[in-house]
Amino acid sequence: MKTILITGATGTTGSATLQYLKGKGFDLRAMTRSAEKAAALEKEGVSAVIADYSDPASLDKALAGVERAFLVHTPSLQIPHHEKAFIDAAKKAGVKKIVKVSVIGAGHDAPLRLARMHAEVEDYLMQSGVAYTILRPHSFLQNLLGNTPTIHGQGAMYSNNGDAKIPLIDARDIGAVAAAALTEEGHDGKIYHLTGPMAVSFQQVAGAIGSAIGKEVQYVNVPDDTAKQGLVGAGFPEWLADDLVTLNQWGRQVGEQRPSEDVATVLGRPGHSLENFARDYAGAFKG
Ligand SMILES: NC(=O)c1ccc[n+]([C@@H]2O[C@H](COP(=O)([O-])OP(=O)(O)OC[C@H]3O[C@@H](n4cnc5c(N)ncnc54)[C@H](OP(=O)(O)O)[C@@H]3O)[C@@H](O)[C@H]2O)c1
Repeated sequence: MKTILITGATGTTGSATLQYLKGKGFDLRAMTRSAEKAAALEKEGVSAVIADYSDPASLDKALAGVERAFLVHTPSLQIPHHEKAFIDAAKKAGVKKIVKVSVIGAGHDAPLRLARMHAEVEDYLMQSGVAYTILRPHSFLQNLLGNTPTIHGQGAMYSNNGDAKIPLIDARDIGAVAAAALTEEGHDGKIYHLTGPMAVSFQQVAGAIGSAIGKEVQYVNVPDDTAKQGLVGAGFPEWLADDLVTLNQWGRQVGEQRPSEDVATVLGRPGHSLENFARDYAGAFKG
């Protein structure tokens, strides 16, 4: 049986992809840099391989006998260098198909550094000769889990979104689309724009989380520089904090963003709603 390699298998989209493919008869191999996480994956019955994008020999080992691969990298300035190294190694190993996580708005002239880095890798992948599907997700609903400390401490969540309405996507739907693109026909050469089914304001987000955890949660809009300070204080690198603040500025200018139909088209069902997400993650929001 041909192997499917899931990179970032311990992360948000990789673990979601793994969940959709597990137990369906596919020969799966989960990639992680950590021996401890590899052991945990093996304990769950998933074959794991230890590899790092910065170590070509480890990639050769991870990719031996692989037919299809899911490619994701945590947000980092290393994305172009590391993902191109992976594509080179995959090509050398005879991989037939790569499903890559990019970002909505990827483009060479994009205002966000992440979007420019992903555009560079998208081009590289498209020119590699390996079949591909590119997933360009909007902001994940799972990012909201970062607000858990202030939801607990103050019954509030802070950001610079203003009244913007954004079609935030549940990362579980990214995993479902990735799983389809890895195992079904008809997705080669496609770029999917992945959003939630409905644009929602942060006031609605706070309301949905509050209802799910049985506690009032207020959304507090803050100036851009305060939002940036908060992100840097929470450990985000400065360039990424700038990207996120810029993204929200843009969201405020647009007002209400239109959702894409790609999730529903690929999956034959709508993506998870905000309310559904809030209910399913209520335990995590409660802490
Ligand atoms: N969050 C959003 O709202 C959003 C929206 C649109 C697009 N995106 C894009 O989605 C991607 C992030 O996806 P995600 O949230 O699923 O990622 P993630 O959870 O942050 O991280 C994925 C995995 O990357 C692995 N990793 C990190 N450095 C590595 C290295 N040097 N070699 C091998 N593996 C490495 C880590 O696994 P181990 O520690 O186990 O090795 C980690 O679990 C980014 O490209 C981002 O631009 C994110």
